Amino acid sequence: MYSLCEKAKQVPKSSLISSYTIDSICLYSLRKAVKMRCVRQSRFRTELFSREQFTAAEQSSYVAGGSLQAQIQALQAHLQIVRSPQEQELILAQQASLIERLNEAQRQQQELQRRLQEQLIGIPQQPFQIEEQPVIRQVESQFQPQQPQFQPQQFPQQPQFQPERPRPQQQQPRPQQQQPRPQQQPRPQQQPRPQQQQPRPQQPQEPILFPAEAQQNTEGSLPCSTLTGEAGHCRPLVKCITFYAEVPELRRQPCKLQGQQLGVCCPLRKRPSVAPDRPNHGVLRPPPPPQVVIPPFTPQQLNNAAQEALERIRDRLQFIAALFANNIILHPATPAAWHLEFFQTTNATLDQGQQAQKNVEASVSLVNEFQLNPDQGTFALPTFSILNTVIADTCPRPTNCRPQKYRSADGSCNNLNNERWGKAGMALQRILPPKYGDGVNSPRVAANGQELASARVISTQFATDVNHPSENYTLLVMQWGQFLDHDLTHTPISRGQSGSGLSCCRDGAIITADLRHPDCFPISLPRNDHIFARFNESCMEFVRSLPAPRPECNFGPREQMNQITGYLDGSNIYGSSESRQRELREGRGGRLRVQNVQGRSLLPENRGECTDDNDVLACFKAGDTRVNEQVELAVMHTIWLREHNRVATELARLNPGWNDETLFQEARRIVVAEMQHITYNEFLPIILGRDYMDKFELTPRDAGFTQLYDSTLNPSITNAFATAAFRFGHSLIQSHMQGFTQFGSIRENLELSHHQFEPYVLYQDGALDNFVRGLSTQPSQRFDRFFSKQLTDHLFQGPLDFGLDLVALNIQRGRDHGLPPYNDWREVCGVNRARSWDNLREIMDSQTIEVLKSLYPSVEEIDLFVGAVAEKPLKGALLGPTFVCLVGDQFARLRRGDRFFYEEAGQPSTFSQVQLDQLRKTSLARVLCDNSDNNAFMQPLAFLQASFLNQRVTCDSESIPRVDLRYWTGERTA
Ligand code: HEM
Repeated sequence: MYSLCEKAKQVPKSSLISSYTIDSICLYSLRKAVKMRCVRQSRFRTELFSREQFTAAEQSSYVAGGSLQAQIQALQAHLQIVRSPQEQELILAQQASLIERLNEAQRQQQELQRRLQEQLIGIPQQPFQIEEQPVIRQVESQFQPQQPQFQPQQFPQQPQFQPERPRPQQQQPRPQQQQPRPQQQPRPQQQPRPQQQQPRPQQPQEPILFPAEAQQNTEGSLPCSTLTGEAGHCRPLVKCITFYAEVPELRRQPCKLQGQQLGVCCPLRKRPSVAPDRPNHGVLRPPPPPQVVIPPFTPQQLNNAAQEALERIRDRLQFIAALFANNIILHPATPAAWHLEFFQTTNATLDQGQQAQKNVEASVSLVNEFQLNPDQGTFALPTFSILNTVIADTCPRPTNCRPQKYRSADGSCNNLNNERWGKAGMALQRILPPKYGDGVNSPRVAANGQELASARVISTQFATDVNHPSENYTLLVMQWGQFLDHDLTHTPISRGQSGSGLSCCRDGAIITADLRHPDCFPISLPRNDHIFARFNESCMEFVRSLPAPRPECNFGPREQMNQITGYLDGSNIYGSSESRQRELREGRGGRLRVQNVQGRSLLPENRGECTDDNDVLACFKAGDTRVNEQVELAVMHTIWLREHNRVATELARLNPGWNDETLFQEARRIVVAEMQHITYNEFLPIILGRDYMDKFELTPRDAGFTQLYDSTLNPSITNAFATAAFRFGHSLIQSHMQGFTQFGSIRENLELSHHQFEPYVLYQDGALDNFVRGLSTQPSQRFDRFFSKQLTDHLFQGPLDFGLDLVALNIQRGRDHGLPPYNDWREVCGVNRARSWDNLREIMDSQTIEVLKSLYPSVEEIDLFVGAVAEKPLKGALLGPTFVCLVGDQFARLRRGDRFFYEEAGQPSTFSQVQLDQLRKTSLARVLCDNSDNNAFMQPLAFLQASFLNQRVTCDSESIPRVDLRYWTGERTA
């Protein structure tokens, strides 16, 4: 007989549906296998079945459990409303029958799980029996049920809350200098609300331990030895989150927990308590600039250059006005117009850019007048100040700062001595000095002065589309990355008159110089381009980033701006200015504005930006203007908007005396802490690897406060991070965004390029939940040099035949910003400089090196984005060494240079110890659960695909712990 197992092996990978369904299929298939006497020793995740083999009628007990619970809950809600005893009796009877079915479904599921677990750890087992009932019954009698069973007589449920007792004083090391505020006890009389009428579990599950506790509490777990011989303790995966970046290894070292469940051998290894081996804590220090000789300019010469700059600006404005008058502007509904939409620019930003342009012109004028070489322009010009020139008024003005409990809206005054560090509208900082063609302004060229290969040619040869779904990570890794990025970086691009978009291509070719805006830097397309040749296109639109005022108020190279706050401070939720924040706030109860759609809270409308074809449904408004770029990004914004309002509402209930302002600021403070905790506890260990996190003290502490704040460290976003390193996430993007129903079938399957700036699907009932399930189920793509064609040929394409190329944009953006090439970054990151192509072999495969050889004249010229994307990931990390170093540097700055960082002691913003203990329970899974409409299941480690080690549990499960806001009762207000 041709068994199901054999069939499964033959299913091509491409015809697989998502792992969400695969979970269900595997359970189903195992049941079927039992009937077919199919003995399988393969690992769980390799048991793959195609969609056709999975019929609706044969869904697993997992799914059945989910729907039954929903029905029981619905009946329970109904029970609250009906008055007549007959009706109540009827409902109770229905409930009893459903509960019985649910228990049966759960029993079956447990049995199936047990069998698969046995397979996973390779315990030899009996062939499956055709008569399955006796097996199940036999197992039932020995087997402790893992899932709670529902008891009809326990409806309605009583609140089960037991406030956690703060830990004993001696277990909470206090910071040495600054004493945190006295601990607050939750008021005994305050009871939390009952948890949405859930049936009470018979056996409360063990509380999950996050890193805070995981390292300390080993009670009740059995000692074991890891595959590498390290000492460990056998724990459920959720209690070993500290090591979750090493999940592939953990999977191979399963062990039995005391209750016979499957656990992982979690290493006992402690994090280094003392500083890492590099004294800089992972923060890169710029190398000292080379000594460059330059003629000593007189004040008069400097002022002349400034004067000339003002004249050039006047000419420039006239020219720009003429372009506008001649309609040489970007036309709407083109990919480049959507790109511009992505980069919405505020008037304040444009004004800043205008001021900075004066400095650029003055520096170019000095370079031209005195024939300075690029090194003189880059290194020596900055030794001259603009303070005594006619453009001195372009220097940013200092303001006075006082310590405050709450962050400012624009990030100013976070650092009390350098109030502009991390403030919106300031320049991105440089670790390495730029490499411009002329030393100050023109894009990078090869060392011999020749043009580099076209960014599009590099993209088509290097960044091909190969489907490599991740085996471990969900698409949430990608989505969190983009959402997080929109909290940290937004580099505005140059605009024309009245904020119009610049057009650099016309009739498929580069616009002639007499009609070309000076900030045009279009990408030339090869004649044989596989997409553009057909349309006779040889030009892709590209506009340079807006210049930023130089922070030191001196002459020198062009800088670029960060339009949003350069802190991990939720600016994507709250905006980066007072005025934006006011627009977004409801003005009551500390809440943010929402639009109510059939009882569901969605982001407020932004009708001015886009509407659907019928002009009925509108785009959304959020703290960051890029919210509408793709649906799943808008989902993440909606979830966090709701999280803010959920926290604000709960705080208002606990503190009836607080006004709107206090509620808003306190909720914001908590939400930002949650975002920081998720980033440092769950996300970064995946990206950078656990070793790196530990080595540079980036891992959140187990308990107590930190005193890592360094007021001399500039936390601002680095140019290399925004322009190359954090764009790593583009490699993780899937070509389709999938939404899943609660039964695991695909409801939405949106092709990326056709659904950008069209988030209207979220107005549909159930769509948000479908995408939350999709994000936590669909695998992300692996980090590698392969990118979806949706990004490289069809970005922002809409209904047209071709779009932009994101990889080419990234490469061109790096040249626009004068980012030094890849080899320079290897050196600063401590990866040896590659002296030859052969030297790359240590971290790149030979095929990749051959491609690079064909594209660059020498190993010295490789663009940073290209070189670092080509690197093989470091062990235990997603990224290779150069990106780990650059992303790590940025997050070390954001942690040590943020006075408001949630773990820090001794600041007006410092949380109390018990509050901090609560915040450390935050997980992305909890936030998704709490703020979906009706999503009942989630795996506790949401960035990891659900598996038997990271099983989906009900959202009310203790495996996804909650932050208890009662510890904020009576919180001191500012
Ligand atoms: C569907 C998903 C995404 C799309 C369509 C998208 C698209 C874009 C576009 C068009 C740009 C501007 C390119 C330029 O002209 O220079 C950009 C910039 C950027 N992207 Fe993405 N991106 C996505 C996801 C991500 C992810 C997952 C990450 C990180 C994990 C990321 C990080 C960045 C960064 C850091 C920038 C520079 C932002 C700035 O400083 O202005 N993006 N992205």
